[in-house]
Amino acid sequence: MVIRKAVAADIARIVEIEAQVFPTPWPRELLASYLGEDGFMVYEQDGTVIGYMILGIKIPSLLARLERRMLAALRGQDTNLEENTGHLMNLAVDPAFRRLGIGSTLLQRGLEYLQSLGAKTCELEVRVNNQEAIALYEKFGFVIKDRIKSYYRNGDDAYLMVKELF
Ligand SMILES: CC(C)(COP(=O)(O)OP(=O)(O)OC[C@H]1O[C@@H](n2cnc3c(N)ncnc32)[C@H](O)[C@@H]1OP(=O)(O)O)[C@@H](O)C(=O)NCCC(=O)NCCS
Repeated sequence: MVIRKAVAADIARIVEIEAQVFPTPWPRELLASYLGEDGFMVYEQDGTVIGYMILGIKIPSLLARLERRMLAALRGQDTNLEENTGHLMNLAVDPAFRRLGIGSTLLQRGLEYLQSLGAKTCELEVRVNNQEAIALYEKFGFVIKDRIKSYYRNGDDAYLMVKELF
């Protein structure tokens, strides 16, 4: 078994798993746009990709950054606040290989990677009816912070879950 950075040759297999496991799968182009990033990782066993994950430091919109800087300046706080929020954007395991600890192994690796980048928290969104993923995240210490209405393209709500990394 190896966890390694995703490469272009993995995309077809990732698209296949993505279509199999999500009601609103990410399009190939969106998945491929993360190629080259260290936070796009695959779990490979006997030469086959059976899981993957995409995470990184959350980049706020220009507007959000301006707003935060203005508020910090008004409060007399440091306006050069470091970006320190990690974001787990995607995590999936081939249904034929579930409940074997692969999701946990990937998530553990991902959280260590975020910590190495200086992230103090990790956020993620998950469908409110996705019991297995919510159970996995709760096992890792994530807590539900908010419910986001119609977050997904098909109208499903998401929970915003957060974990402190220190
Ligand atoms: C969520 C997912 C990644 C878990 O992968 P996995 O390799 O099966 O996870 P693990 O074997 O590491 O399970 C870890 C823990 O998660 C929880 N869990 C996983 N599957 C579960 C299930 N079907 N029912 C209840 N709890 C479950 C359990 O707490 C489990 O620990 P345990 O086996 O010791 O009881 C996988 O189910 C998946 O790919 N789902 C579809 C994609 C998805 O929903 N991704 C998350 C999007 S936010």
